Amino acid sequence: MRFDILTLFPDMFGGPFDESIIRRGQDKGLIQIALHQIRDYTVDRHRTVDDAPYGGGAGMLMKPEPLSAAIESVKKLNTDATVLLTTPQGRPLTQKLAQELSLKPGLIIICGRYEGIDERIHQHYVDQEISIGDYVLSGGELAAMVLVDSVTRLVPGVLGSDESAQTDSFGDGLLEYPQYTRPPEFNGLPVPAPLLSGNHAEIIRWRREQSLKRTAERRPDLLTQAVLSDKDRLFLKSLGVSNVS
Ligand code: ADE
Repeated sequence: MRFDILTLFPDMFGGPFDESIIRRGQDKGLIQIALHQIRDYTVDRHRTVDDAPYGGGAGMLMKPEPLSAAIESVKKLNTDATVLLTTPQGRPLTQKLAQELSLKPGLIIICGRYEGIDERIHQHYVDQEISIGDYVLSGGELAAMVLVDSVTRLVPGVLGSDESAQTDSFGDGLLEYPQYTRPPEFNGLPVPAPLLSGNHAEIIRWRREQSLKRTAERRPDLLTQAVLSDKDRLFLKSLGVSNVS
């Protein structure tokens, strides 16, 4: 998977992209990330990337010409890529969307800045606008990092077999069950008995019920979309939860 990121602040990406899973994905040759300075695509002496909005109003907009030149140039390097724009007005980023994006041949991510970008860039080039949550960041860079991270860990081979993305929260539409390691008792709190039982079927059932219970308590909205068995529904009913898929 190749990511091309168009930004006015390429230096922001140094830390997150040089460590941990994203570093490993690059080292294994499973992902490639290229950062592009939008300002390098200006043609005026002042390297201008922004301008005032027609009709007035506060703030500045990103001008279309440098962005257009940057996108056209990067599309030649990442043919068949899907063009994304990070913006609070976009489709909410969920695990399902990250999974969809991980199947694309390549991604070009435009990081928005200032008050937004000229609408004609959206119309001409952008396939999907993506938001990482209902709050406003100072720019799309942090959102692009979140997006690259969530997609990279789903690219086959990036995670080791002991780090399977399948058991992550949201992998099956539910939150993850609680986890314990040694010692068997800590601060007076014991590890739940099923986990010490050595009975594999009992452990699996306990974990499933804990996932269901946690999701019902913390994110009941997810239960209407999750894939549930009759046994799951019965268990939820015993907790007093009935508005499920
Ligand atoms: N740019 C500013 N805020 C954002 C958000 N919440 N998601 C994606 N891009 C953004």
